[in-house]
Amino acid sequence: MSNPVLVPENQQFIVVVPAAGIGKRMLASCPKQYLTIDNQTILSHTINRLLSHKNIAKVVLAINDDDAYFAQTTLVDNANIIRVSGGKERVDSVLSGLQVINDMEWVLVHDAARPCITHDDIDKLIKQCLVNNSGGILAAPVVDTMKLAIKSNANETMEVSKTIDRSSLWHAFTPQMFKTKELKQAIEQAQVKGLTITDESSAIESAGLPCILVSGRRDNIKITRPEDLVLADFYLKQQIEQNKG
Ligand code: CTP
Ligand code: MG
Repeated sequence: MSNPVLVPENQQFIVVVPAAGIGKRMLASCPKQYLTIDNQTILSHTINRLLSHKNIAKVVLAINDDDAYFAQTTLVDNANIIRVSGGKERVDSVLSGLQVINDMEWVLVHDAARPCITHDDIDKLIKQCLVNNSGGILAAPVVDTMKLAIKSNANETMEVSKTIDRSSLWHAFTPQMFKTKELKQAIEQAQVKGLTITDESSAIESAGLPCILVSGRRDNIKITRPEDLVLADFYLKQQIEQNKG
């Protein structure tokens, strides 16, 4: 249920967008965020979806220092984009973005490679986090039967070890939203402990802090492999037709 007191309509948020990856699995000739869909880079699609949301004021964009592509995009002149240096791993890029945010209680983090994020899902995440006064992530329950894999002794092929109960398994998406100070501290502590941090929630979990699961759309895909590009193109067009963009 909506709560107009707890969720002010005009509250403004900043989103950290890690965009310093090389997109190895995409097998393309440039980092995947610079591949185009409808003559617009994936990065532009993502940032436009974020900055056109009524509650998002600015984006902190983590870009690789050697990136030769960003300067050629129209994003370079956008006053609502604060550019920072990306790091070796995604978590380093996110932390680099968090370092320039000082006066915001909450922060969102969203992958550059997820251009199909809808305003409705951003609304839902912000509302649920504020109402529950808890960090949270967009996510979806797993639908396939899940197998634990092991390498077979005989050769390099993988074998099924066993079937995992999927009833409590969810796919973690972005955006993910947390209190800025808590997230910064959680990531720094996790790095000191040498933990592998693949999303913001994993840092928050390792700090023993709560994170709610907010059910999100399954078309919020992370473009990862070549076949994802045509899917993202399709979803973006569908969403625009349905006024979800
Ligand atoms: N990312 C980043 N800094 C890194 C690595 C990743 O900012 N050192 C960003 C990517 O640009 C992407 C997001 O984190 O927007 C999610 O990561 P992923 O999908 O794994 O992208 P890549 O690391 O670029 O792809 P791959 O793992 O296939 O190389
Ligand atoms: Mg990666």
